[in-house]
Amino acid sequence: MQLDDIDRVGVVGAGTMGNGIAQVAAASGYDVVMRDVEQQFVSAGFDDIDESLGRLVARDELTRSEADRARDRIEGTTDLADLSDCDLVVEAVTEDMDVKQSVFEDLADTCRTETVLATNTSTLSITTIASVVDRAERVLGLHFMNPVPVMKGVEVVVGEKTGADTLTLGHAFAKDLGKETWEADDKPGFVVNRVLMPWINEGIRAYDEGVAGMADIDRGLTLGTNVPMGPLELADHIGLDVVLDASETLHEELGDRYKPAYLLKRKVAAGDLGKKTGAGFYEYD
Ligand code: CAA
Repeated sequence: MQLDDIDRVGVVGAGTMGNGIAQVAAASGYDVVMRDVEQQFVSAGFDDIDESLGRLVARDELTRSEADRARDRIEGTTDLADLSDCDLVVEAVTEDMDVKQSVFEDLADTCRTETVLATNTSTLSITTIASVVDRAERVLGLHFMNPVPVMKGVEVVVGEKTGADTLTLGHAFAKDLGKETWEADDKPGFVVNRVLMPWINEGIRAYDEGVAGMADIDRGLTLGTNVPMGPLELADHIGLDVVLDASETLHEELGDRYKPAYLLKRKVAAGDLGKKTGAGFYEYD
């Protein structure tokens, strides 16, 4: 399968990552089917898309009619069977191996054998996810960054059995969505989270151990190294539960240097997950 053969794109999961991927695919001209398990999640996904498209129109990146056309190209569903005629599917469900494998089993039953199946996993093994399907050569990682409509990069991850054609197509598809790519082998955390998670955890530990206040740690890193957000602010942006999950996978696979910060676990236990719950390290309106 080549880029020209892809007309219809499926996205499994209408959460932050899924709805962002659906939006950028639709804005690039693909017909998109966005599926989640309940209608309320699909509707919430469309709300995010409407808000994001509105922001892109406000800063002249899209015209109102381009935004409307993109919106019209996205069909929402709770029925996985509606993805049966998709040429490429991106899975963006929760970071849980059992859940992802079950989605892949269902996709293998539902989709044509030539359909490319991508996972947006941020730390889990592509090879293990692909092991439950009869077409592992068509499975790869397409790891988008949050917020998907704004972030320019997509990490293309190569599983043990990912075929060369699938890989070429993965890069071409991401580029067609206006993204730039890099390639990573199927090792825990790939490139981005292997390096980012210890950076965030070290920021949290520095705060917990009294090196500086939260805002000074974030200012130190933004002003000192030209990143847009410091580690605590970025953790809140990503979601502390997501950071903890990724850190725990890395810790399990790579040992003690990836141990999650104690304060991160405590915040997640308290339900303070960052921007999405109104409080994390900082408070949000
Ligand atoms: N859709 C459309 N536009 C959006 C948007 C969205 N979802 N989110 C932000 N924007 C736009 C805003 O409208 C704004 O446009 P203007 O400048 O024209 O007003 C612009 O982006 C900047 O937004 P804000 O003013 O709200 O705030 P900001 O300047 O802090 O930018 C940010 C927000 C783009 C998120 C920026 O802070 C940033 O780049 N932060 C770092 C994000 C990052 O590192 N993401 C990767 C996380 S790691 C990951 O995702 C991988 C993983 O597996 C965990």
